Amino acid sequence: MSALSQRPDNPVVGVELPHEAASLHVTGAALYTDDLVDRTPGALHAWPVQSTQAHARVTRLDVEPARRAPGVVRVLTADDVPGVNDAGVKHDEPLFPSEVMFFGHAICWVLAETLEAARQAAALVEVDYEPLPALIDVKEAIDAESFQGGRPKMERGDVDAGIERSAHVFSGEFQFSGQEHFYLETHAALALVDEFGQVFVQSSTQHPSETQEIVAHVLGLASHEVTVQCLRMGGGFGGKEMQPHGFAAIAALGSTLTGRPVRLRLNRTLDMTMSGKRHGFHAEWRVGFDDDGRLQALDATLTADGGWSLDLSEPVLARALCHIDNAYWVPDVRVNGRIAKTHKTSQTAFRGFGGPQGMLVIEDILGRCAPLLGIDAETLRRRNFYAEGQPTPYGQPVQQADRLRRTWDQVKETGDWDARVAEIAAFNAAHDDVKRGLAITPVKFGISFNLTAFNQAGALVHVYKDGSVLINHGGTEMGQGLHTKMLQVAATSLGVPLQTVRLAPTRTDKVPNTSATAASSGADLNGGAVKNACEQIRERLAQVAAQELGVSAADMRFSDGKVFAIGQQDKAVEWAEVVRRAYFQRVQLWAAGFYRTEGLHWDSTVMQGSPFKYFAYGCAATEVEVDGFTGAYRTRRVDIVHDVGDSLSPLVDIGQVEGGFVQGAGWLTLEDLRWDESDRPTRGRLLTQAASTYKLPSFSEMPEVFNVALLEHAHEEGAVYGSKAVGEPPLMLAFSVREALRQACAAFGPAGTSVDLASPATPEAVFWALSEARDGEQGHLRLDGAAADVPDQRPAGATGARPESEAVLESSGTPAQV
Ligand code: MTE
Ligand code: MOS
Repeated sequence: MSALSQRPDNPVVGVELPHEAASLHVTGAALYTDDLVDRTPGALHAWPVQSTQAHARVTRLDVEPARRAPGVVRVLTADDVPGVNDAGVKHDEPLFPSEVMFFGHAICWVLAETLEAARQAAALVEVDYEPLPALIDVKEAIDAESFQGGRPKMERGDVDAGIERSAHVFSGEFQFSGQEHFYLETHAALALVDEFGQVFVQSSTQHPSETQEIVAHVLGLASHEVTVQCLRMGGGFGGKEMQPHGFAAIAALGSTLTGRPVRLRLNRTLDMTMSGKRHGFHAEWRVGFDDDGRLQALDATLTADGGWSLDLSEPVLARALCHIDNAYWVPDVRVNGRIAKTHKTSQTAFRGFGGPQGMLVIEDILGRCAPLLGIDAETLRRRNFYAEGQPTPYGQPVQQADRLRRTWDQVKETGDWDARVAEIAAFNAAHDDVKRGLAITPVKFGISFNLTAFNQAGALVHVYKDGSVLINHGGTEMGQGLHTKMLQVAATSLGVPLQTVRLAPTRTDKVPNTSATAASSGADLNGGAVKNACEQIRERLAQVAAQELGVSAADMRFSDGKVFAIGQQDKAVEWAEVVRRAYFQRVQLWAAGFYRTEGLHWDSTVMQGSPFKYFAYGCAATEVEVDGFTGAYRTRRVDIVHDVGDSLSPLVDIGQVEGGFVQGAGWLTLEDLRWDESDRPTRGRLLTQAASTYKLPSFSEMPEVFNVALLEHAHEEGAVYGSKAVGEPPLMLAFSVREALRQACAAFGPAGTSVDLASPATPEAVFWALSEARDGEQGHLRLDGAAADVPDQRPAGATGARPESEAVLESSGTPAQV
């Protein structure tokens, strides 16, 4: 066991605790950034003027009518920017654009005494446009060769030789949708300036240090003149990793120009029309299996729909490439990646960060190919699992591969798999118009930022003379329970009760140069830093106590607020007393902690290395019931076993697993982003810009039975107190819902039907899929080469697999029939 992962006796980590702010959340007492407005006298309110074109040059901008409107104090335009007119780190995101790049793009901002005055005045601003051609669908961008950023290629072995030796070869195409974050708290910032012109921005941001950097470069200031604080977020989900910067910069710019506090908060429609979302992808692939269904080769091209600017598209794409294998060993692989440039919001991080998109491709392939191979999907998946130590396509050996099998087998056992397979078969045989489906899918997700440098964190721990402890760390709280875990880590490493420790909001003047709270690594990184700071203090206190007791400092123990030498618990001294004595001996009672993840390396130019500290594993089995007349479905039961290592905070982790799963199910089955792809003047407008048209999972979509278990005996050597990251991986457990829907659709057709299912698999899409199955259509796959050997289980009369020449190579969000 490593020093990092080992737990002392009576640890506070591992105790089931509610989220540290749960009671504040549910009573409405928790303060979010925008709640501060009421406590900030004289604050101005900001409202954007949004583009009504998807792509156009702005030929005239007249803000005078707005300036003259009642209550207006100032209109911010590009001329006001003292520093760099850019909201991103790639310098491709003008904060005030002269060429609008998407429908809803903010052109300028009105500041007024009230929000309503700002909104009304913004409508008075006159903008003339010279329209330019707009690419909306990712396929249009591919055809127009409109790409941005790098074109990574990940390759291992000889993919052509692999295809050559395969007994069964299939190829296909798959286009799937993005996802709106729909955090409950929309983007918000509140900026103030002090008498030196120093800027203080409160921002709902996952990445305070980068928000600070962008505010500084927009204002032409150095970083030490800008402080960013994040109290907490009402959800971030990746949407606040990079997108908050521009909004914070607008508030900060307004504040420096007017000398007054400026508040910017997007309402839901503004947020949905202006901020980036999960990337939709287009994938083209060719896959080879041997006679037993073992994957031999995968050749794929993934195109991420990046929207108008790069933002995080490159790292998102890199993670997609690094997850296309999911849990499966593929000897020969070639994956090409590219980023389409389209005239839509700039797509960004979203829980899983490209991982879900990469994994969806292989899960779709396995789900479509299993019937054509004559192997049931459960067997096909398990047969292809990594064996211990086999390398991923990017060269990292897969450790703890047994956890794939352990979680899989446990889900099957506790989920009564075999009995239910039989039950469902009987049910389906007895019902013509309602069918059930059951599917199990695995998750293997790499933990750490791909970019090695980001894997560092800092913390600041103060022990006051009375023994009370205040901790600060570089991570942000967005509901995921990071602060709860950090309190538990600090209490554990100092050996004090939880109530002894308090946590202060995240601020760039407390811990500098932080990484985004992202990649699920918040607890790993900041936990390492908090632990490090606490250990420095504990070691100093151990010296003090050891001297008095006449023992060696190495023999001192700290537990539950008591300090004692091993075996001398009866002579224990109170923690606060040791602290008091240390103070009088002039021993430093606070410390800055630091952590860097060891053992990582990554070469992005060749997409090779060991970028991940470890993998998080999990499996889910889902049962659905589908109505043959409407495609409507419900989720009858879900069983999950997920690997969080030795949990730091089990209640929090179970909440993360449940929430991640439901959010993933939303992406794959309900949430349907639609953009106006017509040639009307509204081309490029987001059509689903409110909860009325964008369907999120709610109580009624919750599984009727929802069993979540954390994998036991799952100690992780490489992370703080033996735990593993949990934030993102469970989202991908939701593939089981999609695959269960596929199974149910297939049950409407003859045995062995391969089903194409659009993503999201909305009831409408499910209806088309089951209709095809019912009509005996065999999916839209090309069967190449030896694929003629596919066992034919279809009854006479079924048309079967389409020959290559007349294949419809499409499985997109909008089936061909629509
Ligand atoms: N859980 C809640 N409740 N709200 C969130 O915004 N974000 C997710 C995940 N879980 C999120 C969440 C995402 S995208 C990430 S990367 C992780 O939490 C970040 O936090 P962590 O690194 O502390 O797990
Ligand atoms: Mo999470 S998408 O890494 O913020």
